[in-house]
Amino acid sequence: MKLLTIIGARPQFIKAAPFSTVFRQQHKEILVHTGQHYDTNMSDIFFAELGIPKPDYNLGVGSGMHGAQTGRMLEKIEELLLKENPDGVLVYGDTNSTLAGALAASKIHIPVFHVEAGLRSYNMRMPEEQNRVLTDHISTLLLCPTKTAVENLRKEGITKGVYNTGDIMYDAVLQNITISKQRYASGAWLAELRNENPYISSLKDKNFYLATIHRAENTDNPNKLREIFNAFEKLDKPVLLPLHPRTRKLLDELDILISNIIIIQPVGYLLMLYLTANAYMVLTDSGGLQKEAYFLKTPCTTLRDQTEWVETLENGWNVLTPIYADSIIKCANRPLDCQKYPQPSLFGDGHAAKYIYQAIVNGGKF
Ligand code: UD1
Ligand code: UDP
Repeated sequence: MKLLTIIGARPQFIKAAPFSTVFRQQHKEILVHTGQHYDTNMSDIFFAELGIPKPDYNLGVGSGMHGAQTGRMLEKIEELLLKENPDGVLVYGDTNSTLAGALAASKIHIPVFHVEAGLRSYNMRMPEEQNRVLTDHISTLLLCPTKTAVENLRKEGITKGVYNTGDIMYDAVLQNITISKQRYASGAWLAELRNENPYISSLKDKNFYLATIHRAENTDNPNKLREIFNAFEKLDKPVLLPLHPRTRKLLDELDILISNIIIIQPVGYLLMLYLTANAYMVLTDSGGLQKEAYFLKTPCTTLRDQTEWVETLENGWNVLTPIYADSIIKCANRPLDCQKYPQPSLFGDGHAAKYIYQAIVNGGKF
């Protein structure tokens, strides 16, 4: 079988790694990087760390407004599909790269296989919600990470080609956490980051918040961004913030205090896993990081009104907060009762890559 896989943004590199390894043992995968993310520490670092094969094509679309960026991808992906004529196109998640890949393939009647199908925030103002709803409705195989996702699709009348494979990000965590701990334990994480920010030395195991902020709904509203940073500034422990380039570009305009916030460049996946496991709590608006915090048993506060990953809210492992400094601080200071509760396995058994493979290659014979 010849499969063409479209990736383009940081979380998609991480999700692609476990499946590529399984699929390439017996079949041909053509890997296409749209170029949506391009900084070394938003792209190349993941290929190097996770042993992802070099993309066969990099479309180099770069940044831009949604229409322009997605349009550039569409045109280039269509050309490639006509040239390569694959048996199917695999897309991950909910970015503009996902939608462009799915739409280009669907228009010329190539089957679309969507990993992370069925997630919903029910907030159609989010670009990600638009991308995932549209992608699901033109997909041939809908590879869902959870039962909730299967049920969400059923409510929209989609039942054919739907499989609950478990979450591919859980595979990635299980495959990499031991390597991460071996590399970064015993203070090696501090040594790695010290050159970037001297205040790193003040951090102690389990005594810092790990934060990431990049969602358009937070970054594109200066008032919200100010509330977030005001909250971080007042927390009782330092906040380590590997900063997404989108947010970095907006931060200078804010004129805010950052004496409790240690800002660093985005880090690689292995270091990120170590930081997540080693933090007191994660504060984030990321989709993937909410789950990684859950898998690694670190409490999380999500700086959003909704989450697609509702399972993480059970027993308070993750809580949602509106974007007001007082509310963020209250959630960050909450008693961590969640740690008393065992976590049910709601994200599969860590072999999602195998089940995705079986759905694609064997028509779902698990
Ligand atoms: C995108 C996805 C989002 C996902 C996130 C993962 C869409 C609509 N959004 O958001 O769902 O959660 O990726 O991180 O697809 N930039 C750089 N260097 C880079 C990449 C981006 O400087 O390597 C800057 C550019 O100024 C760019 C901005 O970040 O305009 C936003 O990048 P973009 O890819 O459009 O969206 P993300 O916010 O990264
Ligand atoms: N991540 C990383 N380095 C960072 C920040 C995040 O490796 O500096 C990883 C994180 O562990 C998770 C993924 O990137 O696996 C999440 O990506 P992001 O938050 O950009 O996107 P989302 O999941 O919200 O779409």
